[in-house]
Amino acid sequence: MATVSDNPSSRTLKKGGELRGKVRVPGDKSISHRALLFGSIAEGLTTIKGLLPSEDPLSTAACLRSMGVSISPIQQGEAVEIQGVGLDGLKEPEEILDCGNSGTTMRLLLGLLAGRERRHFVLTGDSSLRKRPMQRVGKPLKVMGADIQGRSNGDLAPLSIQGKKLHGAIIGTPVASAQIKSALLLAALTADGPTTVIEPARSRDHSERMLRAFGADVEIGGEMGRHITVKPGPKLIGQHLVVPGDISSAAFWLVAGAVIPGSDITIENVGINPTRTGVLEVLQSMGANVECINTIDVTGEPVGDLRIKHGPLKAFNISKEMMPRLIDEIPILSVAACFCEGESRITGANELRVKETDRLAVMARQLKAMGANIEEQQDGLVIQGGSTLHGNILDSETDHRVAMSLAIAALMAKGKSTLLRGDSAAVSYPNFWEHLESLQT
Ligand code: S3P
Repeated sequence: MATVSDNPSSRTLKKGGELRGKVRVPGDKSISHRALLFGSIAEGLTTIKGLLPSEDPLSTAACLRSMGVSISPIQQGEAVEIQGVGLDGLKEPEEILDCGNSGTTMRLLLGLLAGRERRHFVLTGDSSLRKRPMQRVGKPLKVMGADIQGRSNGDLAPLSIQGKKLHGAIIGTPVASAQIKSALLLAALTADGPTTVIEPARSRDHSERMLRAFGADVEIGGEMGRHITVKPGPKLIGQHLVVPGDISSAAFWLVAGAVIPGSDITIENVGINPTRTGVLEVLQSMGANVECINTIDVTGEPVGDLRIKHGPLKAFNISKEMMPRLIDEIPILSVAACFCEGESRITGANELRVKETDRLAVMARQLKAMGANIEEQQDGLVIQGGSTLHGNILDSETDHRVAMSLAIAALMAKGKSTLLRGDSAAVSYPNFWEHLESLQT
């Protein structure tokens, strides 16, 4: 039996048996942030069911409240109500806006606030977020007329924004990033003319879908929908939203179910937006026993139940072109690679180095400590499957997705592991440890 200790920051994990049963992962993090942000600048009431009650969306909500938006308490199982203040109704905050650990909060707020004329804002975050690059958003916003200052030539938080009238522009982004795209689309809502964002590859499209639902004028064109145009003008109108389960959280159970002998897990109500389902394609290419059932559309996003059963697995390749569709699943897929037959290669993954941690370095370091045959490369990982992993003292290094990935690796390792800073899972999946226990019994 795998055990979970009582100390939230240090978890003891042992090789356990099969994982079986049904689980409902919490709401999608990307959609939750957007629901809070768009609801705040809409007119009238927005209600949100299934909002992720974890640290990152709580950071977004706290920032919005500091700017005068009324948002009801965010609690597991309760609908959230937002009284929107309209497109230009955000107040100048009296205090610094703390984005915590959340890159999405900081980057989307940069876009939202750059166009608030005559108002000044300061954004900061925790020590991880203060190291993450923000010029990727600041630079294109400057093309629209934004005034953003910060450390390291405006790249690092704390960042100060002096709101300005923004101009519509045509902007090519250097990386396929939904955070950059969404920041620009938010800025575009109050610019003086249309703005087109051209991405090198299509990133997750939750902003486009939800902005349209709120009544914004959003056009999607170009090859593979890489050109997104927002025409300012229409007001956003409050909506009733339902947030599906997060496929990035489901990914931990998908991999656990695929690699742990005897497992059979159904993850209900998962968002299966095609810009997010790269993990399913990889599992299919590995020969995993995965199926998607009961698919429906829920407030503009496709949703389904995912069932995974253990079976033999082949090695896989992930290249740059797939990266936007599974960017957050690389840590758990690197764990999957340890338990399949042959050599798996992940390339084109440089973006992983600027996430909550340098996820290529951290996963290589931590899995090596368990005896995995894993080689860190400049833009990816090469992993030989089939080595027996052994328990060790592991460290999430404060990264939520690393914590949960290492937990699954530890369930397959010989002997005991101690996972330090396992509590970081709460950034995106507050009840991860409870769900693990429920699947073990
Ligand atoms: C997100 C976009 C991705 C992803 C992050 C959430 C979003 O980041 O890794 O967890 O909600 O827009 P990038 O935009 O940096 O790729």
